[in-house]
Amino acid sequence: MYDVFKVLHVIGVVVLVGNVTITAYWKVLSDMTDDPRIIAHAQRGVTLADFIFTLVGIALIMIGGYGAAIVKELPLFTAPWLIAGQILFGISGVIWLGILVPLQIRQARVARSFAQGGVIPPGYRRDARLWIIWGVIATVPLVAAIYAMVVKF
Ligand code: HEM
Repeated sequence: MYDVFKVLHVIGVVVLVGNVTITAYWKVLSDMTDDPRIIAHAQRGVTLADFIFTLVGIALIMIGGYGAAIVKELPLFTAPWLIAGQILFGISGVIWLGILVPLQIRQARVARSFAQGGVIPPGYRRDARLWIIWGVIATVPLVAAIYAMVVKF
């Protein structure tokens, strides 16, 4: 059972980190086209990808991580690498929920107004810039968590 939980956990990490990086890549490329239809289409894709992959990734990381730790009776709240993993995951989650999701909702709403063509308001561009900056910031704790988990300090 331990191996099953650990495999689910690692699949969750791949899905979550893969999604946040590749979604950002395609969104930036789409924003650079200056074509309102392409930008609006990509923005819809970001919302959908977040629902499918971010949520599945988070669920698998938690079910697999806590499942594996409980089955193997690992010290969840005293082993530094496990404490670090949970805190870093939490930091990333707070940035995602508190900053990135609201920015995405606002961009999606504005993008609907130019989905059939039209002017892209400067506010959309400002939100897109903030979204990529905070997206990179939110990814750093995830990479640090991979390090903590692999090295197990
Ligand atoms: C929710 C908090 C987390 C818990 C309770 C947790 C728990 C665990 C456990 C019990 C293992 C198995 C360790 C072993 O086999 O000795 C593990 C492995 C791993 N975790 Fe986490 N984890 C958490 C968060 C994360 C996060 C946020 C990431 C990265 C984004 C991550 C990445 C990994 C990786 C890559 C491994 C495989 C490391 C290896 O065995 O060499 N974990 N985790």
